[in-house]
Amino acid sequence: MKTYDIAVIGGDGTGPEVAAEGLKVAEAAAKKFGFKLNWHHYDFGGDRYLKTGEVLPDSAVEELRKFKAIFLGAVGHPQVKPGILEKGILLRLRFELEQYINLRPVKLYRAQDCPLKDKGPEHVDFVVVRENNEGLYTGAGGFLFKGTPHEVALQESVNTRRGVERCLKYAFELTKKQRGGKPWKGLKPEDVSAGKTAQLTLCGKTNVLTFAFDLWERAFIEMSAKYPTVKRDYAHVDATCMWFVKNPEWFDVIVTDNMFGDIITDLAAMIQGGLGVAAGGNINPEGTSMFEPMGGSAPKYTGQNVINPIAAINAAGMMLDFLGESQAAAAIEAAVINLINTKIKSLAAGKMGYGTREVGDLIAAAV
Ligand code: IPM
Ligand code: MN
Repeated sequence: MKTYDIAVIGGDGTGPEVAAEGLKVAEAAAKKFGFKLNWHHYDFGGDRYLKTGEVLPDSAVEELRKFKAIFLGAVGHPQVKPGILEKGILLRLRFELEQYINLRPVKLYRAQDCPLKDKGPEHVDFVVVRENNEGLYTGAGGFLFKGTPHEVALQESVNTRRGVERCLKYAFELTKKQRGGKPWKGLKPEDVSAGKTAQLTLCGKTNVLTFAFDLWERAFIEMSAKYPTVKRDYAHVDATCMWFVKNPEWFDVIVTDNMFGDIITDLAAMIQGGLGVAAGGNINPEGTSMFEPMGGSAPKYTGQNVINPIAAINAAGMMLDFLGESQAAAAIEAAVINLINTKIKSLAAGKMGYGTREVGDLIAAAV
């Protein structure tokens, strides 16, 4: 039987609770589709840090590198200064394991969960490919005259030709396969007759960030020559935010840098029903990838069985898809869509009409 070894970092707050439901549903899918999952649990997070002073031992990175996938609950602890765990665990793993893609599917499952008037599941259905290793996140920069009236703070955006091209390549390949190669209904008739099947939007700020996005735009245009079925599109990041609210149906696949990707994917999470459903993958196609619900550790809900585990369950589905178990992933998504449309009252914590564990049980049973 096909067997997958997966590292699990439950993390802080409600992280372990939602991760448990993700594992439960993945187990049900494994049973149904005939593969085996071996979970390897790690206790990295705020509690361990407060006890030992250690965030992530160097040996852990090397150990995690042996896995094809890591399943992460959430990091962030109310007694730990913001930044320590985020940088020490999440960002460190993203960087050291070269998870250079942050992949965020944005799909509304039920009209009532969207705050936008007159928008339904047919309008909110796109994917964001966020560059996950560079940009403003590298820590490049520094202070001059810190703490004096003359102090200067520099935070530099790093954009390498290699980093930008590998991200664009991932996005073009994904777009080529998007919609199963059948033309997307958002395309104009003239695009369809020109042989296009899907659209890739570069989200940038070429009018102001004239170095970083000049490189992105040139690389984007150059690479598009190799993808004749992909319609090339461009939007400034501010306009992208406007259109997420006004015309989300204009988007198919979006590629962007690390900082803009961070911001637009939170906005995107809200139009798909909130952090209770939004999942993401930190992907290294050749190495170790890491899947996580987008929401944080929500400490105030810890241990109350009220947090929505669907985001973690969706992350588990993404992970199985990445491992090659696409039927299992499709079954999980179908079960999620069905449960939301038949039983779940609201996607918000404490308002689902069921507890965290019950939602996991229902989806696992349906799978
Ligand atoms: C995310 C988060 C992280 C980020 C934080 C926790 C460092 O907001 O995954 O989007 O900024 O990338
Ligand atoms: Mn974010």
